[in-house]
Amino acid sequence: MKKPVKRRYNIDQKNSYKLISDNKKKSSKLKENTVSYLIRDTKLLDASWDFKKANTKEFTHCFHSYPAMMIPQIARKILDLFTDKSTKLLFDPFCGTGTSLVEANLKGIDAIGTDLNPLARLIAKSKTTKLDIQVLDLFLHDFINYFFSISYQLDQIHNSIMPNVRNIDFWFSKNVQYKLRALLDYIERINDVDIKNFFKVAFSETVRESSFVKQSEFKLVKSKEIESKDDIDVFGIMISKLSRNKLGLIDFLNKAGKDSITTIYDFNTVKNIPLSIFKPDYVDIILSSPPYGDSKTTVAYGQYSRMSNEWLGYSEANQVDNLLMGGKRKKHHHIFKSELLNDVISDIQRRDKERARDVISFYEDYESSINNISLTLKRKGYACFVVGNRTVKGINIPNDRITKELFVGNNFEYVETFIRNIPNKRMPLRNSPSNIVGDTASTMKNEYIVICRKK
Ligand SMILES: C[S@@+](CC[C@H](N)C(=O)[O-])C[C@H]1O[C@@H](n2cnc3c(N)ncnc32)[C@H](O)[C@@H]1O
Repeated sequence: MKKPVKRRYNIDQKNSYKLISDNKKKSSKLKENTVSYLIRDTKLLDASWDFKKANTKEFTHCFHSYPAMMIPQIARKILDLFTDKSTKLLFDPFCGTGTSLVEANLKGIDAIGTDLNPLARLIAKSKTTKLDIQVLDLFLHDFINYFFSISYQLDQIHNSIMPNVRNIDFWFSKNVQYKLRALLDYIERINDVDIKNFFKVAFSETVRESSFVKQSEFKLVKSKEIESKDDIDVFGIMISKLSRNKLGLIDFLNKAGKDSITTIYDFNTVKNIPLSIFKPDYVDIILSSPPYGDSKTTVAYGQYSRMSNEWLGYSEANQVDNLLMGGKRKKHHHIFKSELLNDVISDIQRRDKERARDVISFYEDYESSINNISLTLKRKGYACFVVGNRTVKGINIPNDRITKELFVGNNFEYVETFIRNIPNKRMPLRNSPSNIVGDTASTMKNEYIVICRKK
């Protein structure tokens, strides 16, 4: 087999990257046989983006956990640096649970978000909905009276039909199933859509916490300590989530005021941009943390959300990971607008054609998404992508520079990349680059905040 060409890049003072000739001394840190596109000058690490001790659960950011959430302080700092009084509308094309949308609203900026995962949309919607606290209190009192009154009988639930949750008996004790069913029956009777969403978000975390799922994992792995879960206080968990979220909401309402609004959609920017929503050159700033690979081999957003999605009756629950970027494998690929990406793919192809297909499938979607969202942004508007890099078959994929090149290919100028350590973002630090169980590689220690500006 032909040996892969080793290309190494370094950064010059103008912040652009240069290929270091292959015969230069190899870093002792690099494993033999590793092709690295990631040689970095560590001085570029900017500790002011680390937010080591920051409270990442302020405001409605406390509502629900989610894999690879953006931390609010990053979105806040980006908005401080790259918006001004004329900034009216932010767009996050991979909004997840809506960190950037909440931060936009806190600054009085309207926001549009889209995500293909129904659970993420539900959470993002609820985190940015300005509920009337007095009305919410009425519902909360009713909820407590209902479930904690002496006359409440769980027995009446025993004959109810359970929702279509795959392997329900494997993941939940019977006792817990009845209690969750009772909560769901109650929520389904709430007639105010926004209040209902607020309850559904608390319910979703209650589902996860009362299941046999190992709580420290985002993937569905069964915990060894299942005995303790049989008589778990399901109603108590639900109440504590509702109370915590209400406090977060009050803080959000106090700071955000009444004016800013967020609208959540479920369109797929890989396919196209709905012209009914976006006029050309409509958005003032794009701020997002996109996935850095397909869900199956990187972060399993769909798997994390599956049980909640099933309990909540979302029909696409089983399909989420296939729907997300790179979820469908493609056979052929065109030449990408990023030369660096073309080089990386050739290197991976030389090592493993099948794994190269995963990478190609992801980047084809990523590139079309960037092409499409670029159309929504006004001239001189900033696109700010918070990205991570990963390793496939021993080849480091410099997603930050690929992202930069893809934007530049869409009539953007490159502005800057900030590099931060990841001290408190909850995400897998190791993945299986070869897709073999037990074969892991260190992935995300740094995060890259790539800033480009439309010409
Ligand atoms: C890194 S997460 C975003 C997290 C978000 N910033 C937060 O703080 O919660 C990436 C998101 O992209 C979504 N996604 C992946 N492919 C997508 C696509 N084609 N269209 C819309 N969303 C997609 C995933 O469902 C996931 O929620």
